[in-house]
Amino acid sequence: MRRMSESPAKESDLIETLAAGVAHEVRNPLNSLQINLSILEQELSERLPDRQGHVFAVLAKIAGEIKRLDDFVSEFLRFARSPRPDVERREVRPLLTDLAAFITPECSKRGVSLDVGLAGPDMAWVDGFQLKQAVLNLLLNALQATPAGGHVSVRTAGDERRLVVAVSDDGEGMSPETREKAFTPFFTTREEGTGLGLALVRRIVGQHGGSVDISSTPGAGTTVTLVFPAPREV
Ligand SMILES: Nc1ncnc2c1ncn2[C@@H]1O[C@H](COP(=O)(O)OP(=O)(O)OP(=O)(O)O)[C@@H](O)[C@H]1O
Ligand SMILES: [Mg+2]
Repeated sequence: MRRMSESPAKESDLIETLAAGVAHEVRNPLNSLQINLSILEQELSERLPDRQGHVFAVLAKIAGEIKRLDDFVSEFLRFARSPRPDVERREVRPLLTDLAAFITPECSKRGVSLDVGLAGPDMAWVDGFQLKQAVLNLLLNALQATPAGGHVSVRTAGDERRLVVAVSDDGEGMSPETREKAFTPFFTTREEGTGLGLALVRRIVGQHGGSVDISSTPGAGTTVTLVFPAPREV
């Protein structure tokens, strides 16, 4: 099983450098492609005012692919630019109840029940926004893996020294191969997935000095457990 402790700092430096390269080398030409494509479309429309012909379908296809690439780059940059955490001793309950309220409509839409059990410590050393971001990614994954009638839960445990957050589902589970690759940036088994959710979770937890663990049984479900320790000097 892969863990955060695999030198996350080095990995995040590399990702930031890559992101700068991607922004420069891919974003700019993409924008230029987009502009030139609309010029082309405009000129063709003037010559073929009824917009009949295969050529417009081809242009639409190119525009669609450019948009897909642009969305992908945006998602990647959002991931890579995630700032260092602003860790403070915060109340845990409001963060997670906010998040539960936010995700409840999506659960109802999918016919999946959400159980929230916050028996863990009242206070923990976390960046509130990043904690929510990490748990949201886990909840979305859980929902995406769970058919109607299924159950998703978020529970806390731990003590003054460490906050443990576990997100469980009784959905499709992961094969051992998927679990092995789950944290790898861009690894996805979903048609619409970017494959950055768990990479981001691992990054956030790593920057908090914590760890992340997946336990999963194909056909039975998955639990992802995050540990956020208190800083050593406290
Ligand atoms: N709760 C889960 N149950 C089953 N499989 C999961 C679960 N969480 C993650 N996975 C598997 O791990 C893969 C990687 O997850 P990750 O969140 O990184 O990317 P994604 O969900 O595919 O895309 P993104 O989060 O970027 O939209 C998923 O494609 C899926 O195969
Ligand atoms: Mg995901």
